[in-house]
Amino acid sequence: MDIVVVGAGALGSLIGALLSRENEVALVGRKAHVDEISRGGLVLEGLTDGTFHIRASSSLPYTQPDLAVLCVKAYDTAAAAREIAAMGWIGTMLLSLQNGLGNEDTLADVVPDLPVIGGITSVGANIVHPGTVHHGGDGETIIGAYARCDEHHVTMVADAFTTSGIPISTTDRISTELWAKVIVNAGINPITAIHGIRNGGILESRDLQDQLGHLCEEGVNVANAVGAELSQGEMLQRALDVVKRTATNRSSMLQDVQMGRRTEIDQINGAIVREGAERGVPTPFNLAVIDQVKGLSGSGRPLQ
Ligand code: PAF
Repeated sequence: MDIVVVGAGALGSLIGALLSRENEVALVGRKAHVDEISRGGLVLEGLTDGTFHIRASSSLPYTQPDLAVLCVKAYDTAAAAREIAAMGWIGTMLLSLQNGLGNEDTLADVVPDLPVIGGITSVGANIVHPGTVHHGGDGETIIGAYARCDEHHVTMVADAFTTSGIPISTTDRISTELWAKVIVNAGINPITAIHGIRNGGILESRDLQDQLGHLCEEGVNVANAVGAELSQGEMLQRALDVVKRTATNRSSMLQDVQMGRRTEIDQINGAIVREGAERGVPTPFNLAVIDQVKGLSGSGRPLQ
């Protein structure tokens, strides 16, 4: 398959490198990172080791890919979608592997005609420095038809991942999975960012585990009010499983805060608060962490 990864940060670079084992891959990312990749290849460390010589650039390729994997920050989805729409691609499948709610809807609305596949992944990756990515945690990746696509599209994408050695499963309830993923992120990401700890640090404190529980509970209440049918107990267990599997990982929100970048708090906890407000479901714990993370953003708090 001819694949372009749009948003080759830590996760996008890792997924792109793994997919390049069996597919033609082009990465689109920030200039310093893609320049380094073009010069010496993409270096992976950690669970995967090696140098991957992949096409990399800071703009979309003019040749039409079979699949575009979106890994941009959720607040950049609309801009990325507009760029894709301007390419006039025909038949290219769009797969979102992003954090937050609403990415698939934005793609479906802004890019006319192309099939949109929803996806979640809890694979953990950090950029060590431009050109080098640490593969910190293996997690599950689940995809499913979202808009203008059917089982055939989903199977083709799942096959491309499987043959490249990336564990993946498919679902016909991707909207519920997207809710489950946002709830996991709404717990782990702000807690790790506020306290400056790796994901596994949550397991070392009863208070932080309680906070994770409260955030999960609010998320499940909102998701179920929207129609997701999630169980409180299973969701907390799922969040704890992700914490364990990615224990040495720095969450994407912690990385954003430490790098002085904008965080995805509005697209993660903010989305839960907005959906909750529309349905009369209270979300005080989510509101509190939004304030705390906004107070931190860009403060470059050191990792403990
Ligand atoms: O955003 C992240 O960091 C990741 O989605 C996850 C699963 C929390 C692992 O760090």
